[in-house]
Amino acid sequence: MTTQRPGGHPHGPAENPGHAGHAGHAQTWLAGAGRPAAVPGAPVNVPLELSTTYVAGGALEYARYGNPAWTAFEEVVGGLEGGRALVLSSGMAAVAATLSLVPVGGRVVAPDRGYNGTCALLRALERDGRLSVDWVDVDDTPAMIRALPGAAMVWIESPVNPTLEVPDVAALVAAAQEVRRDGAGPLVVTDNTFATPLLRTPLQDGADIVVHSASKYLAGHSDVVLGVVITGEDRLAERLVEYRMLHGAIAGPAETWLALRGLRTLHLRVERSCANAADLADRLADHPVVGRVRYPGFGAILAIEVGSPERADAVCEAVTVWTHATSLGGVESLMERRRRHPSEPAGVPVDLIRLSVGIEDVRDLWDDLDAALQASLATGA
Ligand SMILES: Cc1ncc(COP(=O)(O)O)c(C=O)c1O
Repeated sequence: MTTQRPGGHPHGPAENPGHAGHAGHAQTWLAGAGRPAAVPGAPVNVPLELSTTYVAGGALEYARYGNPAWTAFEEVVGGLEGGRALVLSSGMAAVAATLSLVPVGGRVVAPDRGYNGTCALLRALERDGRLSVDWVDVDDTPAMIRALPGAAMVWIESPVNPTLEVPDVAALVAAAQEVRRDGAGPLVVTDNTFATPLLRTPLQDGADIVVHSASKYLAGHSDVVLGVVITGEDRLAERLVEYRMLHGAIAGPAETWLALRGLRTLHLRVERSCANAADLADRLADHPVVGRVRYPGFGAILAIEVGSPERADAVCEAVTVWTHATSLGGVESLMERRRRHPSEPAGVPVDLIRLSVGIEDVRDLWDDLDAALQASLATGA
């Protein structure tokens, strides 16, 4: 999709912002990219255009092919990840679009645990004979590498949802490139939802494709469902553009506009959430009710294991500052026991509570969480 805005922000890269990464610092890029040209009388925000069609002869023709909100959002995200971004209707639409690149009958190397929607889609595609899946222990990089020859794609999340391992992207990329020397090799795909492009940029480590559930940190306010795919390779981008046009899994302009507004504060939200998460990880390490704290050392998602599913459920029910709800990456802190979902991979402990740490005052988060944990002890849950 070509940019429809005249010019672009004067402080953005002069050409091809979606390919070249961004000039300056990420915060500055987030504040300024994807805006109309700064000319007298121009709005500072891209206008929300609710029109399905455009007068013939211009850059835009029909809203399923492109609209200004997409272009602006894609410019900002593409610049952050250092590739060409395509917005889709949800994170799962981004996952499905990416898996459409696997040739019929191709093999995907996938982690034995990870976001349950991705695992379920892979299982469904395998059931339908569309592709085959090699499920490999996500914590065993050598095993993943051994599975690469002959594979069409390797899929990783970094960190993994919800068990928070951090696969070695650089090692997998190096191994995939080695396999490619002997002919066709696997595309390396990273779901970067948990890390955000502020903490990890997998394309810079050599990954071919990055996907996000933009419903999470990128949009950041738990009010839109949206996805995005980013790649540095034109041939893949063209295939994905075609997929989006023909399968119709398009993002609404209003959702995209809201997500763009959310993106403006990504760095502030991530900074604060991460600081809160690091603080809570420290405090939880000594908590008598918590058997294990999973914290990868960065990011704002933690997981704790509390001994039994009953106790985990009791903790989730008892909190009042935190909200017992699925999803993550919003300004508000959420928690849930992941195995309450029947589709959650069996490799996820039954007593694991995933904590999505928000931007509240960490003292209030701690008091609430500690009280809920202590109460679970008192009731013998
Ligand atoms: C890591 C990860 N990837 C993809 C998705 C799917 O995103 P969406 O809910 O926007 O379809 C999710 C949703 O929770 C997720 O956590």
